[in-house]
Amino acid sequence: MTLTLGTATRDRLRIAIQKSGRLAEPARKLLAACGLSWRESRDKLFCYGETLPVDLLLVRDDDIPGLIADGVCDLGVVGRNELEEQAGTRLRNGLAPAYRELRGLGFGQCRLMLAVPEDWDWTGPGQIKDKGLRIATSYPAILGQWLAREGIDAQVVELSGSVEIAPRLGTAELICDLVSSGATLVANQLKPVENLLDSEAVLAGPAGSFDDARAGLAQMLLRRVDGVLQLKDRKLLMFNAAREALPALEQLLQDAGPLVVVPDQGRPGGNGTLALQTMCEGTVSWQQLEDLERAGARGLMVLTVERSLA
Ligand code: PRP
Ligand code: ZN
Repeated sequence: MTLTLGTATRDRLRIAIQKSGRLAEPARKLLAACGLSWRESRDKLFCYGETLPVDLLLVRDDDIPGLIADGVCDLGVVGRNELEEQAGTRLRNGLAPAYRELRGLGFGQCRLMLAVPEDWDWTGPGQIKDKGLRIATSYPAILGQWLAREGIDAQVVELSGSVEIAPRLGTAELICDLVSSGATLVANQLKPVENLLDSEAVLAGPAGSFDDARAGLAQMLLRRVDGVLQLKDRKLLMFNAAREALPALEQLLQDAGPLVVVPDQGRPGGNGTLALQTMCEGTVSWQQLEDLERAGARGLMVLTVERSLA
């Protein structure tokens, strides 16, 4: 298959995702939940969309913002940290922002943090003002912006990996790196002290808008993404109850969505019993079901919601 990359008008949407790494699997899962499927093989870098004209490009995550900026890809699933860092670099080089974050995707959460040796007493950013200290990082643009905001004069030591080891090697006093569980910092006798960025996987797109078939495709995909994200942890609770029991039941379901009466359309045997349903966030426990039953609910059922369009 010949693959034409470029900015020309296209009638297929191209999404860049991480080829391997933390975001790779959840990104595919999310897109599959949106109804996309591909003719795929693991060693391939290009997956041709089957159910919809939406193709995947499997790349290194740090290439994703650039691919969007160059119009090679239309959308990308990438860490906010990567997107912000490259936006910061563009800004520093006098280039216009070329992409924007369309949605936070709720996975791949981590924080970009300033970390210091465990035995430091950290009193705040003021502590490192005018000390001429060195900070090792793979995120010089975000760190640079933070230092400027805080009015701190420090030397940024740019490293592409193994940042945590810099203080022990004597190449820097502090580091600025991604923290997820915190285990890496602990293992290197460091502690996090300042949060520079809350990151997660995001869906990124170009700063401008599409003026061909991709506009409709992107809009449909975003709507489906929203649908999938909203459904996370949502349960539909269904039951029957007499009208008199409603106030007590509503009291118990204060945290749920509105209690909806399902019209019975004249079914026989209704005799004043209402069919009710409501949407609940998170799990509905046995205890909650028993409380509802005591308040008059009958035939309680908790259902997983598979798909919905708002
Ligand atoms: C990140 C980060 C830390 C580690 C933190 O590295 O640079 O090394 O994860 O995670 P933790 O708080 O759960 O220990 P990553 O695995 O992304 O690899 P890289 O630094 O080589 O890109
Ligand atoms: Zn790392």
